[in-house]
Amino acid sequence: MGTHGVGRMRVVPVGPVKGELTLPGDKSITHRAIILGSLADGVSEIRGALQSDDCRDTAKAFRAMGVPIDELDDERLQIRGGGLRGLKEPAEVLDLGNSGTTMRLLTGVLATQRFFSVLTGDQYLRARPMARVVLPLRSMGATILGRDGGNLPPLAIQGARLRAIDYVSPVASAQVKSAILLAGLLTEGETTVTEPSLSRDHTERMFDAVGIPIDRNGLHLRVNGVKQIAAFQVIVPGDFSAAAFFLVAALVIPGSDLTLCDVGINPTRIGLLEALQSMGAAIEISRNRIVSGEPVADLHVRSQALHGTEVAGALIPRMVDEIPVFAVAAALAAGTTTIRNAGELRAKEVDRLAAILQELRRFGVQIEPRPDGLIIHGRPSLTGCHCDSWGDHRMAMALAVAGLAAEGSTEISYPSCVSSSFPDFWARLNGVAPGASVLLEV
Ligand code: S3P
Repeated sequence: MGTHGVGRMRVVPVGPVKGELTLPGDKSITHRAIILGSLADGVSEIRGALQSDDCRDTAKAFRAMGVPIDELDDERLQIRGGGLRGLKEPAEVLDLGNSGTTMRLLTGVLATQRFFSVLTGDQYLRARPMARVVLPLRSMGATILGRDGGNLPPLAIQGARLRAIDYVSPVASAQVKSAILLAGLLTEGETTVTEPSLSRDHTERMFDAVGIPIDRNGLHLRVNGVKQIAAFQVIVPGDFSAAAFFLVAALVIPGSDLTLCDVGINPTRIGLLEALQSMGAAIEISRNRIVSGEPVADLHVRSQALHGTEVAGALIPRMVDEIPVFAVAAALAAGTTTIRNAGELRAKEVDRLAAILQELRRFGVQIEPRPDGLIIHGRPSLTGCHCDSWGDHRMAMALAVAGLAAEGSTEISYPSCVSSSFPDFWARLNGVAPGASVLLEV
């Protein structure tokens, strides 16, 4: 991969990471709140909403279907939903930018609407597999066409009345699960979804929180078509996936002492904490509480020596977005770390296993590829380098952590891609590590 976009970020090791940080709102929860608010009857309000490119792309798509959505301030969204049948046929192709969650969840909704719509996205999204949602939706009776037999966007959807199905998903994917649950909500009768291991359960929790009946029994979910969703108010917790970069930075940079406030600690999201604990890390969790059906807490972390570990199986879906930054922790741990059963990373914004392999090698890390994982040999220090974000927000932020922990300076290409999930990332980094990042023009 070459460089994508303008500018490079220089990251310099400025010493410990210190202070207190509040993270932006959770991306997954914000998407779901916008979708359900758009389908509800009346005025819903989302507090703590993430206002990043991906979430704005979800809001933009619903605006294009006639739903008024206002950013009241930098963390409050107001949605005037027109009900389950209130969406209007969009006059234009819906461009969903970089957001896989938006495309997969929206496909589930739009397959049930009695109009035609076309979904596309940027070069990365247009290369991501959609068969995982298109195939089950087709078995519900949906008409969806796309490149590669319907696997690749653009997707053209002729919405229709669907049939309820019992779907056994081959992949532990919250996007697949949620697309089917949303389609099921808009379909008469009982739709069921079973997944092989638990993926993030924000859709289920939000259904509960806004009064949509859903039956959960282990990995098995049942939802019935509903006539109406009442308008609601939700508070979105801080994004654990955003906290992860600072958590690892504080662990691996000597002398660090950091508190992360109001972070969502949904058990289906915090596999990284377990992985880090198995490397010897102690992270204090305090002020535990439930906000809009989601567990929230403060995390306190100090720098600590880590040792290698193995992550595999059911832990992987619970830390799927954190593997890039986990790999940075592994690179600085004593001994070897093995990541297995992580083939899903090849279907993310980019092939993240390939991206981690190539970019961490530039820092001097010895790392071996596996078809579904990586073997990372830890070392006492990293060497600053020129590296490539691959245009992937989580790669850019993980590389920033590596750069902060390395000797010498590091330059990262296309740093503005962080705006998919964390527009303020570079400023926040400088907040806890003054002078850590400087934008270089090219
Ligand atoms: C997400 C689910 C995950 C995750 C993505 C957000 C969601 O993908 O990687 O960043 O909000 O449902 P999969 O469910 O496809 O693994």
